Formats: sequence, structure tokens, C-alpha cells
Amino acid sequence: MSCSPVAVVTGSNKGIGFAIVRALGKQFSGDVYLTARDADRGRAAVAELQAEGLKPLFHQLDINDLQSIRALRDFLKEKYGGLNVLINNAGIAFKVADTTPFATQAEVTLRTNFFATRNVCTELLPLLKPNGRVVNISSIVSVRALAGCSQDLQQKFRSDTITEEELMKLMEKFVEDAKKGVHEREGWPNTAYGVSKIGVTVLSRIQARLLNETRKADGILLNACCPGWVRTDMAGPKAPKTPEEGAETPVYLAFLPPGADRPHGQFVSEKKVLPW
Ligand SMILES: NC(=O)c1ccc[n+]([C@@H]2O[C@H](COP(=O)([O-])OP(=O)(O)OC[C@H]3O[C@@H](n4cnc5c(N)ncnc54)[C@H](OP(=O)(O)O)[C@@H]3O)[C@@H](O)[C@H]2O)c1
Repeated sequence: MSCSPVAVVTGSNKGIGFAIVRALGKQFSGDVYLTARDADRGRAAVAELQAEGLKPLFHQLDINDLQSIRALRDFLKEKYGGLNVLINNAGIAFKVADTTPFATQAEVTLRTNFFATRNVCTELLPLLKPNGRVVNISSIVSVRALAGCSQDLQQKFRSDTITEEELMKLMEKFVEDAKKGVHEREGWPNTAYGVSKIGVTVLSRIQARLLNETRKADGILLNACCPGWVRTDMAGPKAPKTPEEGAETPVYLAFLPPGADRPHGQFVSEKKVLPW
């Protein structure tokens, strides 16, 4: 078994995830795994970083596929006996001009951004070693979408006692309401991406609380963050930040020094905690 520290970045064959792997590759004293759902795209991305003199490793990971998540889990357990840094970056967004029906957009977006990210956490968080760091890439859009929810939903999403099961039920209800065409009447904002990222931010708050309850002495820090508006295939060419600039806040959270006790369970933007 390797005693090297190990970091994993989901959805890192391009965009912000790729820039995060590059930054970790320069600073992380351990093995850094670039992961991708498509092995060819992943290996091509690894080759690009190798040409820069970096040494990322590759592992296949499709976060929508439980078997793929579990294969990575078993690999990490066997090779490293755990995990030091997890960056949940993989995500999708329909383009504004996309004419796919809202109900389909809601189902597809929530499936990857929320439910699959949650599955990765369920399988990989138990592997975290002491002083582990988890960064869930959410978005500032989650803060705006929260403001667009009914008072009742806002109260639920801000609750310090909401459970993962309750959050799952709410996310499922959004998809069902969207399918019935009643989501706005039921107090939801008209944004599938925004609701999916509310899910990621609230999930992070819940997971941090659970870590406090179960593994306080291990000093693990878990946060949600926004990378900013970044020029990638997702956000398009008009966004002001480069992927490298977008990687700054996630990388800052991944490198919170051992012994630090905050931020934890927060939503972080531009390296600062924002109120939820
Ligand atoms: N760009 C922004 O301005 C911005 C702002 C706020 C938050 N974010 C968030 O930042 C994260 C990265 O976004 P980005 O702008 O870098 O987007 P991007 O360029 O579209 O990259 C998304 C990455 O996620 C991967 N991915 C999608 N579904 C996956 C799955 N099921 N399993 C594994 N990987 C999967 C993609 O792989 P493929 O190449 O195979 O599709 C790709 O590598 C996302 O969570 C996004 O919501 C972005």
C-alpha cells in the first residue's frame, strides 16, 4: 500500500477541474488523480499536463454510475488506505437557449449535480483520512436561487437540523413538481441549475455537521464554494475569469493547513465565507 497522500478531482478532463488538477500538481505533495467519465478524454488531459512536466495520474469516474464510483472507492482503499483531498467538481448545465423541456432539464441537471455528487460523497467520505479536505463546487447561483424560493423552502434550506434524507426528498420533489408543471406554484425558482446547486450547498452544510458529530477530532474540513464566472465550455467565452483563476478558491480550500478549524460547512466565494 502506498503511504503517499492522495487527491481526487471529479470531472477534471477540462475546464475548472482540469485547472484544479494542474494547480494541485504544482503544490500537493502526493498523488493527484485527474478523473473523467470518458477514459480517452481523461488520458488526453493527463498527457497535456505531463507535457507541462506535471505527473497527474488517471482514474475513470462517471459520477452518474454507482459502479464507477465504487470501483474508484475500492481502488483508493486498496492502494492508499483512504483519501486526503476530494474535490467534487463534475457538473453540467443546459445552455440558456436550450429548448429541452424544463422538466427534463430539472431531472437531468439534478441527477448529475446533486444526486450523483451526493453518491460520490456517500462512497468516498468514509475514506477520508485525518486532516482531509473536501471541496464541493457549488455556485453563487445557489445563493440567488435560494432567495427565489418560498419562505417555507428558504427556512428548510437554511435549517441547522435538516437531514440528508430530508434534503433528498426536497430535491426529488422539485423534479416531480417540474414534471407536473407546478414547481413555481410550489415555491421553487425557475432554475434547475440553481436548485441543483442549492442542493450541493445544503448537502455540504449537512455533511460538515455530520463530520463534527462523528469525527470532530480528525480535523476534516468540508466546504462548498463558487469558482466565480469562468471561461469554460459551460459558461462560454464571455466569462471574465480564466480556469486557473476559477481554480483559486477550490485550491485554497483544499490546502487549508492541518490544524485549521475553519472554514467548515460554509459557502465560500473569492476565498471568503458568504452568509447562507
Ligand atoms: N464556469 C463557471 O462559470 C462556473 C460557475 C460556477 C460554478 N461552476 C461549476 O464548476 C464546475 C466545473 O464547471 P466548468 O465550468 O469547468 O464546466 P465544464 O468545462 O463543462 O466541465 C465540466 C466537467 O464535468 C464533467 N462531467 C460532467 N458530467 C460528469 C459525470 N457524470 N461524471 C464525471 N464527470 C462529469 C465533464 O466531463 P465531459 O468532458 O465528459 O463532459 C467536464 O470534465 C461545475 O460543477 C460547475 O457547475 C462553474
